[in-house]
Amino acid sequence: MGKKYRVGVIKGDGIGPEIIEATLYVVQYIDLDIELVELQAGYEYYKKTGKAIEDRFFEEVRKLDAILKGPLYTPPHDLNFRSVNVMIRKELDLYANIRPFKSFKSLSQKQFNLVIFRENTEGEYVGIEGMFNDIAISLRLISVKGAERISRLAFDYAKTMGFNKVVVIHKANILKISDGLFRNVFFKVAKEFPNIVAEEVIVDTAAYLLVKNPEKFQILVTPNLYGDILSDLVGGLMGSLGLCGSALVGDSIGVFEPIHGVALDIAGKGIANPVGSFVSLKLMLEYFGQRYGDSKAVKESKLLEKAIQNVVDEKRIWTPDLGGNYKTMDVAKAVAEELELLRKA
Ligand code: NAI
Repeated sequence: MGKKYRVGVIKGDGIGPEIIEATLYVVQYIDLDIELVELQAGYEYYKKTGKAIEDRFFEEVRKLDAILKGPLYTPPHDLNFRSVNVMIRKELDLYANIRPFKSFKSLSQKQFNLVIFRENTEGEYVGIEGMFNDIAISLRLISVKGAERISRLAFDYAKTMGFNKVVVIHKANILKISDGLFRNVFFKVAKEFPNIVAEEVIVDTAAYLLVKNPEKFQILVTPNLYGDILSDLVGGLMGSLGLCGSALVGDSIGVFEPIHGVALDIAGKGIANPVGSFVSLKLMLEYFGQRYGDSKAVKESKLLEKAIQNVVDEKRIWTPDLGGNYKTMDVAKAVAEELELLRKA
């Protein structure tokens, strides 16, 4: 008998509950033993209860193999409410935000296959800010440990997945000490991987080159903020932010979520694109495969990837962000149907 997986589900705010409903529909068609455990967190939960996360949250998380998560809202106007995303990342030490972008033939102007490894616990996101008279000050932390573990993970991934080039993104020409450290640690780690080419690109040039020649990139390693911004840029190249998924991993657990936010402009209409969340589910299955040596999970992840590709590229079941008229659940049903067809083929 295969392993039983316990997966936490955070529905999230805005379009979160809609895309998670669609994702859980697809989960039913995955041939693995998955038990789902709902976890309460987010701004909607806070408005109802006065708490950003439920009391038993981290106790429950310790019993899980992974978390499937919708986006969570952090209102800029509410100074008392701190980001639950940042809290979860820090508490679970999810130091790597891995964002694969594989273009769809039918949607993207250029064809590419690149992965952003965004350091996920440091940089500007440590949230240490204050006022000094009328000057706002924000601290930015970059540590040797932080730079080293994200760089090593990226090189390991490149080696395992058959990529031969890893690029560090920085602004060390201006931020000589902090980005300088990130850069230098990256090149030190690179020496452990002599068969992989290690290069560097300044962040603003990276934005330009990603738009002009995304196909020239393979793996990018970035400090927190640059990875956040460049991911949305590549999301635009993909055709929609709604197509992109991510894996947040640390040493203890993986959290899988689409890269987009709560999209309040379309929330509640049933038209959010769930593909990014399906891609995150695929990454979760891949993670199970690698972490537990579960070949069935790897097979399921490949099947889901193919089903998503067929639904987007061939059947063109597109939500309005892609120029289509389909609803969120139409895409879920199409992917489930495709999974069944692929299984029979
Ligand atoms: P957003 O990603 O929510 O939306 C940007 C644009 O992309 C909007 O036009 C939206 O309609 C569209 N979009 C995003 N996801 C889509 C999908 N699945 N289908 C179709 N269209 C989609 O960015 P925004 O508005 O800047 O962020 C809103 C809030 O979301 C932020 O204030 C933040 O609190 C939260 N957020 C949460 C994240 C997380 O939980 N991981 C990540 C990013 C933002």
